[in-house]
Amino acid sequence: MARSSPTYQAFDARKQERRVVRDTVREDDLDAVNVTDVMIRSTSDDLQIGFFAHGDAAGAILYSKKRRRVILNIVVVSSLSRTSSRRWAPRIDHNQTSDGVKAAVRSRYGPPAVLTVQEVTTPAPKDDEVLIRVHAASVNRSDYHVLTGSPWPMRCFTGLIRPTLASTGTDFAGRIESTGPKVSKFKAGENVMGFGGVFGIGSHAQYLALSERGGIVPMPASITYVQAAACLEGAYYAATALTQVKPRAGQKALVYGATGAIGSAYVQLLKCSDVYVTAVCADEHRHLMMSLGADKVVDYRTQDFTRDTERYDLIVDAVGKTSYVACRKLMQNDGVYTSSGGFENLFFAVATWLVGRKRVLFIGPTDIVGNLMLIKDLVEQGRFKPVIDRQYPIEKISEAFAYVGTGEKIGNVIVTMD
Ligand SMILES: NC(=O)c1ccc[n+]([C@@H]2O[C@H](COP(=O)([O-])OP(=O)(O)OC[C@H]3O[C@@H](n4cnc5c(N)ncnc54)[C@H](OP(=O)(O)O)[C@@H]3O)[C@@H](O)[C@H]2O)c1
Repeated sequence: MARSSPTYQAFDARKQERRVVRDTVREDDLDAVNVTDVMIRSTSDDLQIGFFAHGDAAGAILYSKKRRRVILNIVVVSSLSRTSSRRWAPRIDHNQTSDGVKAAVRSRYGPPAVLTVQEVTTPAPKDDEVLIRVHAASVNRSDYHVLTGSPWPMRCFTGLIRPTLASTGTDFAGRIESTGPKVSKFKAGENVMGFGGVFGIGSHAQYLALSERGGIVPMPASITYVQAAACLEGAYYAATALTQVKPRAGQKALVYGATGAIGSAYVQLLKCSDVYVTAVCADEHRHLMMSLGADKVVDYRTQDFTRDTERYDLIVDAVGKTSYVACRKLMQNDGVYTSSGGFENLFFAVATWLVGRKRVLFIGPTDIVGNLMLIKDLVEQGRFKPVIDRQYPIEKISEAFAYVGTGEKIGNVIVTMD
């Protein structure tokens, strides 16, 4: 099917470069381009607005030609899409005999107790899918939201009344068991890791069938499945933000909530760019933060971090518990603020783009494969360390969720599927 327009171009949000794909963009091209490639349609003297749809993701991007920067980048993933990742979910087929594959499943939204481990049928990979034997996956805050169906607006994507996906799980580390006939990127026997997006792919199961164009990358040879599972969801969010913010060596950054899965990844990735990092966390985690490279640690429980005398080029609220208003005075005049939470930041993103030089970036998830490859390379170079708090067998996945729900985990909680 042709989606033609002579003005279409591909915009790589990661490299912030534009390039003409061709005059006519077809569905096939969208399969070939990355999710960060957006089709730019309308232009003015300064602003360019791009829209894209790729698989079950769709989004919009606002780019300023004068500033040569992305001002706003929103990506949504729809559970209504016909090409949705939801078909990757492990299925409970009551008409078929289970072949004993374990999966964590639920039939309604609710607390961790609604999740039970059941025997299901092994998913059959389609022509372009790989069948992955999952060995480990993280239980993260996104999973917790998907389990509880809270906040409510999220249900537009995960199922309004009941969850669309029986199983939870957004990421995985495992081995390719078999491949469909049209798969060209992966072979049976390869160790892989991946992330399927905030709304989940049902990876809390022993087997997972996933399109080869899903967020799958080779797993670093130097680490275990458990360690690999701790390099995915949180690290991806930090990486996707930083590839858009592009911090420079010598700049200063403050990471609020630096001990979480996202925060601990931010600290490490910023240090990889030679940025001076102040980590804000409970004092008991000072040593962990220093071991990850933080230059300064501020205990938010005993000190008001907003009284810091440093001025920062970048402030990241990795845990969604502070605000732009509170942090504004700590920012350099052309500083950037971004947060893992808070839809008010959408408003501030527009407001700060219109007025003043300090900016709030509302960053949508983009380029899963590119960012996972970045993390993989850093792991292989020994520059990114997985931070693991607790590990649970799949039979105790409800306990893992209950712990994640406390909001007190340090780094990552991992569930093993062996
Ligand atoms: N925007 C998205 O697409 C997206 C995706 C995933 C997650 N999220 C959100 O991102 C947030 C972080 O996720 P995460 O997995 O990194 O979280 P997490 O691992 O659960 O983070 C918990 C850490 O935050 C620290 N913390 C708790 N309360 C704090 C406070 N008031 N001030 C400072 N630090 C505090 C705790 O450490 P201390 O012991 O140091 O207090 C704890 O280690 C969550 O709110 C999650 O919902 C957003």
